Amino acid sequence: MISTIAELRSFLAKARSEGKQIGLVPTMGALHKGHLSLVEACREECDLSVVSIFVNPTQFAPGEDFEKYPRTLDSDREKLATVEADVIFAPSTEEVYPPGSSTTVHVAGLTERWEGATRPTHFDGVTTVVMKLFQMVQPDRAYFGQKDFQQAQILLKMVRDLNLPLQMRICPIVREADGLAMSSRNAYLSTEERRASLVLYKSLQLAERFLAEGILDADRIRLAMEAEFSSEPLAKLDYVALLEAETLNEVDEIQSPVIALVAAWVGKTRLIDNLWLRPAPTTS
Ligand code: PAJ
Repeated sequence: MISTIAELRSFLAKARSEGKQIGLVPTMGALHKGHLSLVEACREECDLSVVSIFVNPTQFAPGEDFEKYPRTLDSDREKLATVEADVIFAPSTEEVYPPGSSTTVHVAGLTERWEGATRPTHFDGVTTVVMKLFQMVQPDRAYFGQKDFQQAQILLKMVRDLNLPLQMRICPIVREADGLAMSSRNAYLSTEERRASLVLYKSLQLAERFLAEGILDADRIRLAMEAEFSSEPLAKLDYVALLEAETLNEVDEIQSPVIALVAAWVGKTRLIDNLWLRPAPTTS
């Protein structure tokens, strides 16, 4: 495990001089199979996989769960050994944010809605820390999950807008057997809340069924998804949205693939999930 940027850079400089392709998987730890799937994708494509573990303070607002966010470094290391990650980079806060840091990366537009509406400072924290990790590791490829769909779109845009010399890979959502999207925050859920949390994926599956039946009207689908939430008193819906992926703009009618996003509080835990919705091919 490496904890300083200097040590990381000298280790990676050697690998790079040997012609090795470097892959980066940024994480905040409390690893689960979703994270490990990113490491596996990275190992398949790259010669050297770097997994960063850093609970980034700047993406949490005051009152959010920064202090109680699960920190499980020992078990994270064991899990990463099972997928043979090459380097674990776990820096301190001071290492990542030198005292007096005042520079941020802001992606205008995409950061303002959906998650950004309830968490207005969140995405600037994400883009700033990911940009820093890119500078520290200088990876050839970086791996992110579709689970955080808006985050992935914002990071793709940052890479395009800033001409960053790396390839982005967005990997599919890994779910529990009953459909709940894996998340480090699922650890907060009580038994009752864990059961109630299934409503997120159920509402997405409902939308999928509507599409299979040829219903393409976005309002109708959205209303049905909202009704699904009304039947689960432990969950409080924040939003359901049917969006064009690149712009995150809402659509009226589903003519091409759209992304369905849901966000809800289950007790004090905020959960998000999403699913691609593809209209059935027309037979003529
Ligand atoms: P974290 O929540 O730890 O997630 C790290 C990566 O794992 C993200 O790219 C996320 O989308 C992906 N991931 C989470 N759950 C997943 C699942 N069930 N299936 C597939 N991938 C999943 O996202 C962050 O950390 C931070 O914002 C970070 C990018 C590290 C910046 O601090």
